[in-house]
Amino acid sequence: MSDSKNYKYERIADEIAHLIDSGTFRPGDDIPSLREISRQRSVSITTAQQAYYLLEARGLIEARDRSGFYVRTALPSALPEPDISAPDPDPTEVSMRDLVTEVSFADTRHPNLVQLGAAHPNPHQAATKALNRTMASVARRMGYRTGMYNYVPGCEALRVQIAQRSLASGCKLGPDDIVITTGCTESINLCLRAICRPGDTVVVESPTGFDALLSLDVLGLQALEIPTHPRDGISLDALRFALDHHAVSACLIVSNYNNPLGSCIPDENKRELVDLLASRDIPLIENDVFGELHFQDRRPSVAKAYDDKGIVMLCSSFSKSLSPGYRVGWVVPGRFMSSIRWLKYTTSLASPTLAEYAIAEFLASGSYDPYIRRMRRMYERYVGALSQAVRRFFPPECRLTRPGGGFVLWVQLPAQVDSLHLYRQALRAGIAITPGYLFSPTNQYRNFIRLNAANWSDEAEQAIQHLGVMIAALA
Ligand SMILES: Cc1ncc(COP(=O)(O)O)c(C=O)c1O
Repeated sequence: MSDSKNYKYERIADEIAHLIDSGTFRPGDDIPSLREISRQRSVSITTAQQAYYLLEARGLIEARDRSGFYVRTALPSALPEPDISAPDPDPTEVSMRDLVTEVSFADTRHPNLVQLGAAHPNPHQAATKALNRTMASVARRMGYRTGMYNYVPGCEALRVQIAQRSLASGCKLGPDDIVITTGCTESINLCLRAICRPGDTVVVESPTGFDALLSLDVLGLQALEIPTHPRDGISLDALRFALDHHAVSACLIVSNYNNPLGSCIPDENKRELVDLLASRDIPLIENDVFGELHFQDRRPSVAKAYDDKGIVMLCSSFSKSLSPGYRVGWVVPGRFMSSIRWLKYTTSLASPTLAEYAIAEFLASGSYDPYIRRMRRMYERYVGALSQAVRRFFPPECRLTRPGGGFVLWVQLPAQVDSLHLYRQALRAGIAITPGYLFSPTNQYRNFIRLNAANWSDEAEQAIQHLGVMIAALA
């Protein structure tokens, strides 16, 4: 799929659309003239004009005779956010295999689908090319050593880089606090295996990513879904109540930009969450795989930053920020370090040596920071553009999240729409989406879908228009 959003005029249009979306420019406000935009952005008047034509076409601005451009007073209406979720209050068995086999396995193998489904980063904009160059250079310099095992806890140079970067999320880690893994998925599986036995109950957010549910499924664990707010994440009152009524072995959450909600637990709630779990001696498995992709200036903290008892097991990877194909992740297991090292050793001995060194060198070279800043800005624009397309083309009774980071949106469709039916119909039209069924073991979200904005393009916009027609027909 082409990534046409590299055109300057589209970028300018997306930025102004975002300013309208966030309320900086309100209905009726005049926006900068073509001349001003061309001066501010060092682009030609024609490019500025193209950007404004696009905004007009999207129904966001209008030209008024001789007096410039204004935000339209009748903007495509902003869709409300979904309510806080209200899942089943009891633990439940998890059985996701058939659904995930149908949806996830099939879609990701079709190169020609318009990819609004799997939560993969944009492969064209990811740092893969630069990483590959670094990898080739590391391979030349290290020679035969790249063919050797890098046993647990993994490449020291990489652990040093991860420890240094952890300061930004409020942690004070040393390289020896970290174990390198083969992606966040392995980190989470190791943590669950270290602390749970088959039949145990694990607290999860509702909705929660199906990668977490699959881990519970395969390990024979029960899920206890907790009401989760689309902005602030897991409800601490609901969690307290659940812990008072059920025996729970672990709590598994995505603290920053949860997939699919995009919720981010405020810092004070993270502290309270850690205190609550520590007071009951329940380990927290914290997934921070989206934490680097924040839209505001400051990176959100992690719950691990408030952990002085070692109960938080922080899991992450470079899959969303750099390249999922490198399969490099890590875990900071706190007081479960020795179990995690043992489980990692007995599961896979080590992670791929060359990939670890390549990422370590990429981070140490200073290339990562400007790159990730660019990705944050790009995903923010793409999420804004996808949100606007949903507003324009989906029925007005839909609801839509407003994530502060990451690249996925969670859409509540009219109650009559079955997301699996829509998924199959969309697939026949060449469009991949993720049906809501995959985000709960109890089918809470049959009329929800998750959309990935990472591959935003003209084709994606057309696909949203097409989906809108299908949804209206099913509603
Ligand atoms: C919340 C979340 N955690 C983990 C993963 C997988 O991470 P990794 O590729 O590092 O195993 C995904 C992938 O979609 C995800 O959305």
